[in-house]
Parts: sequence; structure tokens; C-alpha cells
Amino acid sequence: MGTRLAISPQPIALSDWQAESRRQALEDAAAEGAAANPLLAIRGVSLEYRSPERVVRATHRIDIDVHQGDRFVLLGPSGCGKSTLIKSVAGFIQPTEGSITLDGVKVQGPGPDRIVVFQEFDQLLPWKTVRQNVAFPLLASRTLGRKEAEERARYYLDKVGLSPFADVHPHQLSGGMKQRVAIARALAMQPRILLMDEPFAALDALTRRKMQEELLVLWEDVGFTLLFVTHSIEEALVVGSRIALLSPHPGRVRAEINSHAWDIDSLGGVSFQAAAQRIHHLLFDQAH
Ligand SMILES: Nc1ncnc2c1ncn2[C@@H]1O[C@H](COP(=O)(O)OP(=O)(O)O)[C@@H](O)[C@H]1O
Ligand SMILES: [Mg+2]
Repeated sequence: MGTRLAISPQPIALSDWQAESRRQALEDAAAEGAAANPLLAIRGVSLEYRSPERVVRATHRIDIDVHQGDRFVLLGPSGCGKSTLIKSVAGFIQPTEGSITLDGVKVQGPGPDRIVVFQEFDQLLPWKTVRQNVAFPLLASRTLGRKEAEERARYYLDKVGLSPFADVHPHQLSGGMKQRVAIARALAMQPRILLMDEPFAALDALTRRKMQEELLVLWEDVGFTLLFVTHSIEEALVVGSRIALLSPHPGRVRAEINSHAWDIDSLGGVSFQAAAQRIHHLLFDQAH
């Protein structure tokens, strides 16, 4: 059996070496998990949009295993079905063939074990404060009582560096800060898997880079499993520990790549450039 990654409910002050050894433990657990049953199994999944006039096939027979502790990236061009696939994992759309299971249980609808962070900045409730936004799903789902929900909200807001902004309303925040709140809100639910659909795509380049870096720090610190969608090769290499390359419409898995070796510090390096080039060829150079 793979080691289970605990999501700690308590604040942890990590010194550098602790962070390093924790990172190693997480990566070991992910590697070990790969030998065991996957956390999320997507098997032969085709997804379609049907209207009386026509059927649009968004993905074709996708096979993907996501293991505990993975930072799994779905990478592909616009329109290849990434959002549709993540929505089906979230339980909003049912496959027309194949199956999706989480912890061996078939996904049949939305649930608090799978939380999505979207690209849009308007995913927060404008009339609630930052802290109320983070606490809201915990209260609405009756996961926690008011006092515990407030405490949990405070804890995750601290994790994303937004404690000083807990009492302001979303319109007072920048785009990057709104996305941090959305991430805190999602993590506060302590989902089995965090789903992110191009969460940084609408940010300026510098903020986007910073958010990628923060997400990796958060992953080391908190310890979650991530399914992350992007159309940016560079972002996939930085954020992902594994990458599934999807072909253009309808999306099929063209290749799967282990991308443990690269992070924010490898940007611009020779091996990073070579990997990006290789992925580019795999995505675009073959006949469809
Ligand atoms: N609600 C919808 N109704 C009909 N077709 C849709 C709908 N949403 C997406 N599509 C189509 O499904 C395909 C995949 O879309 P999407 O999952 O949004 O791709 P991506 O996120 O990779 O850009 C596209 O061809 C798109 O036009
Ligand atoms: Mg999309």
C-alpha cells in the first residue's frame, strides 16, 4: 500500500531542511502510490455535448491515473476538451462511455471530495468578506460548525498569505489575490483532489509566475493531490509532476510525461528548453 498523505489541520512552521525532507516524503509517497491503486482512475472516458442538431465529441477514450500526491497536468490546445474533462471529474458532466472513479468509487455527481478552482476572478461571492468566502462552503456543506469553519478559514488564508485581507470584500482585491482566496477556499474543504482549470491564465505574466511558485510551496507545505489544466507548456513543466498531453479536438491522450525534474528554478535552462521543445513536437508535429 502507498503511504497516505495526511492533510494537516494545524499550522506547521517549516525550516528549510524540514521543507526539503517533507518534499522528499511527498515525492516518495507519490512514487510508492504509483505502484498501488490510483486515487483517481479515468478509464476510456469519452465526453460529448448533444443538441438536437448535432453531437460534439469533446474527448475520446481518455485513460489517466492520478495517484495520491501527484501534481497531474492536463496539457493541450484550446478546445481539446480539458475543461470538459475536469468538469466530468468534478461530476458536472457524465461520460458517454468509460468511467471515472475516486478511491475506487464511481463519480456520479459533484461532491466535497473534489473542489474546482476556475480561471475566472468572479468565483467569489462579492457580498461576503474574504474570510466568509472561505468559510462558506464549509458551513453550507455542514462540514464544520461556525467556530471551526472560521478557524479553518483563518488557517488557510494564512497559508496563502492573505491574513491581513480577511475582512475585506473581493472587489478590493487584485486578480492574483482573488485567485489566492479561491485556492484557500478549495483547500479549506480538504478535498481528496484539488481540480484547477487554468487558474492563472487571466493573470499578468509576473503574477502568474509568482502564483505557480506559491502553488508549489503550498503543495509541499499542505500536501494535496492536484489535477491542473493548462494550455501552456511552460506552466505544465513548472507545476506538474506528471503531464498528459492531449491532442487537438477531440482530445485523446497522446503521451504521458514525467516532469518531476523541472520547477520554477529550471525555467530557461537547457534541459527545460529541451523538454518544452519535445512536448511541442509531440503536441503539434504529428498527423492528427
Ligand atoms: N456547452 C457546450 N456545448 C457544446 N459544445 C461545447 C460546450 N462546451 C464546450 N464545447 C465544445 O467542446 C470542445 C471542448 O471544449 P473545452 O472542454 O472547453 O476545451 P478546452 O478546455 O480544452 O479549451 C470544444 O470543441 C468546444 O467547442
Ligand atoms: Mg478550458
